[in-house]
Amino acid sequence: MSLLPHCLNFNLFCFTGALCQKSTLKPRPTDVPDMPPCILQPEEYTGMSKERMMEIRRQNCNPMVMKVTNYKKPVFIHQGYMQWLWDVDGKRYLDLFACVATVSVGHCHPKVVAAAEKQLKRVWHTTNIYVNPPLHEYCEKLASYFPDPLKVVYLTNSGSEANDLAMLMARLHTRNFDIITFRGSYHGGSQQTLGLTSNVAYKYPVANGLGCTNTMCPDVFRGPWGGSHCRDSPVQTNRECGCAQGHCMAKDQYIGQLKETFQTSVPSQIAAFFGEPIQGAGGAVQYPKSYLKEAYKLVRERGGICIADEVQTGFGRTGSHFWGFQGHDVIPDMVTMAKGIGNGFPMGAIVTTKEIASSFGKGLHFNTFGGNPLACAVASSVLDTIAEDGAQQSSLTVGTYLMTELAKLRDKYEIIGDVRGKGLQIGVEMVKDKASRDPLPLEAMSEIFEDIKDMGVLIGKGGLYGQTFRIQPPMCITMEDAEFFLDIFNKSIHNYMERK
Ligand SMILES: Cc1ncc(COP(=O)(O)O)c(C=O)c1O
Ligand SMILES: *[C@@H]1O[C@H](CO)[C@@H](O)[C@H](O)[C@H]1NC(C)=O
Repeated sequence: MSLLPHCLNFNLFCFTGALCQKSTLKPRPTDVPDMPPCILQPEEYTGMSKERMMEIRRQNCNPMVMKVTNYKKPVFIHQGYMQWLWDVDGKRYLDLFACVATVSVGHCHPKVVAAAEKQLKRVWHTTNIYVNPPLHEYCEKLASYFPDPLKVVYLTNSGSEANDLAMLMARLHTRNFDIITFRGSYHGGSQQTLGLTSNVAYKYPVANGLGCTNTMCPDVFRGPWGGSHCRDSPVQTNRECGCAQGHCMAKDQYIGQLKETFQTSVPSQIAAFFGEPIQGAGGAVQYPKSYLKEAYKLVRERGGICIADEVQTGFGRTGSHFWGFQGHDVIPDMVTMAKGIGNGFPMGAIVTTKEIASSFGKGLHFNTFGGNPLACAVASSVLDTIAEDGAQQSSLTVGTYLMTELAKLRDKYEIIGDVRGKGLQIGVEMVKDKASRDPLPLEAMSEIFEDIKDMGVLIGKGGLYGQTFRIQPPMCITMEDAEFFLDIFNKSIHNYMERK
């Protein structure tokens, strides 16, 4: 189990002279706790100036690039190693967002780098018109992580592409058209997946999402129903609850909403239901226990297939299981994945049954880069590394500790409304006050967000109103890193309350 500082796991590096060192240049404010040490000395950056990069960003990059840039004073990343990132000035950050829940085992993880280098010198690209060994090694290995009958893999380059093809396969297989997702979900930005995605921020005024219907998200914190033992998390909401242990009224109410959607908004036969086991961009929203199990039954009764979007929850992140769906005691008909699959290398996959995969074969689909040998070699090494590093176990241990301690801060500060998640898929929902549960305004969110970054920690933001901090770090973080973050987070909230 890797709860030890990383030095102890990488003796090689410690002995070859890269000294543990504190962040250089701009010292952090003195009343901020010390950052845990790191074994790597970053290269000195001698490239283009920050001003020049911003100029190019404005002149030669689509404005979308600027629009998605985090922070008032953006972070200019030059280098990364495991849970650490360095900016061009040599300032070190603890990365608790993994560049959007993507760097699963650690930035430039030495084992993954070695696997990539080996393949890089052999062959990069073949496409499926030839047979390349890394693809077959990978498909067999990935399939071994799934229960029967989920054994057929199709590789893509992104999560949007995986979900797009999942929609197509579901429709071809069922010969139905309608697909249901949760309000507040994010399943991609391509024109088809925009229909699955249910958040105004990502919508354009063009025809999209034909055949997609959103149903109420069973959000036990913000939604109309929820209590104090609904969800599968070390931390429950602080809402009152009259339910007996083992029975969840909120689950019944939200299932009632799904039934109403069936009754009002779709034909009697549907193609699919898409759901993340725990929402990602939606802000780590968790559903009541047994909700998915009942929903899957209702969907199948209507001819639909059940699709788990594991783009964020897969590959051990939820700690208790390798896949998020396993925590809901369901077996989906199809699973889509991306992000953590390649530790940052662009890749995605759809895993489904033989039957569903065969309806795809009625037409022809060609994907130039899907199953790229380099991507497959990287992804294969990522699977091995998760196992060798005990990443899933450490997600469970460090994540549970983080949530338990964050819950203490929730009890202390009026503006921390909820702490939730599983393993290292964590959300901290911020509110104006606990009674109203109204979202903390964006301006306040970004003040706290900026302060945490200035103190050396990168986290994420999400939720329908941008009100939820997201903690989804590389799974190599340690207890020491968790302690450091808890100090910083406490301090940032304290600072905000003082300023108010
Ligand atoms: C749950 C989920 N599904 C799908 C996607 C789309 O993946 P990509 O950005 O690789 O297209 C994302 C991306 O954030 C996601 O979080
Ligand atoms: C939070 O920060 C305040 C102000 O620095 C400090 O007094 C308090 O002890 C801290 N609490 C925890 C739990 O770290």
